[in-house]
Amino acid sequence: MVNFQIRNVIEADFIQISHIAEKCKPMTIMNNSTYHIFTKHFKNTSFVVEDIDGNLIGFLLGFISQNNPKEGYIHLLCIDLKLRREGIAKNLVKNFIKTVSDKGCKKVVLVTKPQNKISIKFYNKMGFIPYKSNQIVQIEDMDVFKDYDGPGEDKIVLFKLI
Ligand SMILES: CC(C)(COP(=O)(O)OP(=O)(O)OC[C@H]1O[C@@H](n2cnc3c(N)ncnc32)[C@H](O)[C@@H]1OP(=O)(O)O)[C@@H](O)C(=O)NCCC(=O)NCCS
Repeated sequence: MVNFQIRNVIEADFIQISHIAEKCKPMTIMNNSTYHIFTKHFKNTSFVVEDIDGNLIGFLLGFISQNNPKEGYIHLLCIDLKLRREGIAKNLVKNFIKTVSDKGCKKVVLVTKPQNKISIKFYNKMGFIPYKSNQIVQIEDMDVFKDYDGPGEDKIVLFKLI
């Protein structure tokens, strides 16, 4: 069992976040500027995990929708490869849900790639379910939004009522 603690991001975290993110495939790797925006402008809903020596071992970057303040959105979630299956992501997501729920959210939403089977298993285990819509096609028994993020970028949209 790993000892870890969750805290809100500070601006300087974005460099270390980008180092962890490099090893987070199949999660989409972003430009550093994206991580920087989250650590600068979404501090209240973005978190890092530290080990007992203060090393960053994971992160969750999220926000509350400006258009629908009752909806929280998880943009990126990743745990250091060596420390997976220790319940760290579960704790991060629970922490995010509690945070946005306290701010009035009733739902948490996220988008993942159909090929990211581990992420889908993880979020299903956390109680997230796929959105249904007439834009959805069934691929390998999954509810997939074709071209959700542009041509060829199919995605699964998952949500959980909180
Ligand atoms: C998805 C991810 C964040 C899960 O992190 P984690 O800390 O290993 O997850 P947890 O230990 O909290 O897992 C909680 C539950 O999710 C499920 N789960 C997690 N990883 C799993 C795997 N590899 N295979 C099957 N089920 C898995 C299990 O039910 C697990 O509970 P259990 O270990 O008691 O069986 C991690 O694999 C990761 O960083 N992946 C790369 C980045 C990514 O794809 N992020 C998500 C898309 S943005």
